Amino acid sequence: MSALMSTFVLFGGTGDLAKRKIIPALYSAFVNGRLTPNFRFIGAAREGLSDEEFQLRVANSLQTYASKVNGSAEQLSAFLALTGYAKIDAHNKTGTDDFEALKNRLPKDPEHTCLFYLAVGPDIFIPVVEQLAQHGLVEGNARVVVEKPLGRDAKSAKEINQALRTHLKENQIYRIDHYLGKEMVQNLLALRFANSFLEPLWNRKWIQDVQISISEQVGVETRGDFYDKTGALRDMVQNHLLQLVSIVAMEPPVNANPDAIRDEKVKVLRALRKFTPDEVAKKIVRGQYRAGAVDGQPVIGYQNEAGVPTSSRAETFVAIRAEIDNWRWAGVPFYLRTGKRMASRCAEITINFKPIPYSIFGKAQGPLRSNRLVITLQPEESVQLFMKAKEPGEGIRLSDVALNLDFAEASNSRRVESYERLLLDALHGDLTLFVRDDELGAAWEWIDPIMQAWDNDAEGLKSYIAGSWGPAAASYLLAQHGAAWGEEYVENI
Ligand code: BG6
Repeated sequence: MSALMSTFVLFGGTGDLAKRKIIPALYSAFVNGRLTPNFRFIGAAREGLSDEEFQLRVANSLQTYASKVNGSAEQLSAFLALTGYAKIDAHNKTGTDDFEALKNRLPKDPEHTCLFYLAVGPDIFIPVVEQLAQHGLVEGNARVVVEKPLGRDAKSAKEINQALRTHLKENQIYRIDHYLGKEMVQNLLALRFANSFLEPLWNRKWIQDVQISISEQVGVETRGDFYDKTGALRDMVQNHLLQLVSIVAMEPPVNANPDAIRDEKVKVLRALRKFTPDEVAKKIVRGQYRAGAVDGQPVIGYQNEAGVPTSSRAETFVAIRAEIDNWRWAGVPFYLRTGKRMASRCAEITINFKPIPYSIFGKAQGPLRSNRLVITLQPEESVQLFMKAKEPGEGIRLSDVALNLDFAEASNSRRVESYERLLLDALHGDLTLFVRDDELGAAWEWIDPIMQAWDNDAEGLKSYIAGSWGPAAASYLLAQHGAAWGEEYVENI
């Protein structure tokens, strides 16, 4: 499948996300023959650059961030030849009509698809879309991709969504959450809805708790200023973590069409129990990293990062005991956790099944941890079902063994990075892996009371040492209910 006649216009074309993720993803699609020669790429930003100057920047970012793509020198030159630049001031303060100039560079063919990717802050979304509409650029096959976080709270997200819908149809709006493009996230749909044996177990009767943890070793890198205004709750929980919750917890959709899936996901987000201020203090732990060491290398504390005020109260870690109020999940805790500068980089979903009702083997016969299904998104993709088995030898001693589905070994097909997959989906008009406005609204509605409670509670921010698993309170959050995070089980295999 390849996109016919398409132009990809990247607002924020000189920014960090463009350099690290979007341009390498486009290049990978190009090298792997997923774009036609008719494809054009235009970077757009405020800086005054010539096409050649932008091409040089593109070549530099590909050298730094696309080493795995393995394109040849000829392929690189061919890609750069398709690349151009448009200087655009979204607020149009310069007096020149940047958008008219952009329009003149786009093909006039009505069959042509133009994808405008807004890799800019949410405050620029509305002016850009208004200008695109005023210049007649969002008609026909035009599509707009908007990056997260979409807004700062439910109210601002609603305003942005309303403005987008004034000028665009819902099926022209692609709200990106790159976690949805990860191979294993889609595999979760296959795992749940293409196998018969899991469904009878996938409920409150058999599941003790669900844990979804995304730990990162990196700090805030060059994004201190952005991150400090955002924090982990808006940066990771409102989008990536809640999207994972909705896929783990949703009911079987009627088919695999985008809206059928999104209809079920939004029901989960609406069923998430909202926290009272009192519950926020008891069921949510937030933390900020202090200086420490990650992988044996000393690292500075968050408040000393570039762009971060030394008095910052932004959270770089969140752990939550969430609950879903519906028949399938009533009473099953969903423990959610994310943090920067943690002990290891790992994104994992663990379904902990209930213990056996009674052990005929007595207590001293090995670890008592019950069965669990562990779906690892990164650093490696895997699905492991941990079961009890007898250790070889005399007598009966039980140990955990994993039924292991290693995807790297199981398949020879090329791994497609999430941004590449999502960009191609957007070019082909496939909305399945993008977020609908009602999902986004429901996620913000759940997040808002947490942010409000934090605003009124200056004391609740804990600190943790960089390179650890977060504040001790995050362990206590589970321990008080007899649970523990995956890494806390000493008998883990
Ligand atoms: C982004 C966040 O959405 O996801 C970053 O803004 C975070 O702060 C990143 O580092 C994590 O993505 P991944 O794919 O590396 O887990």
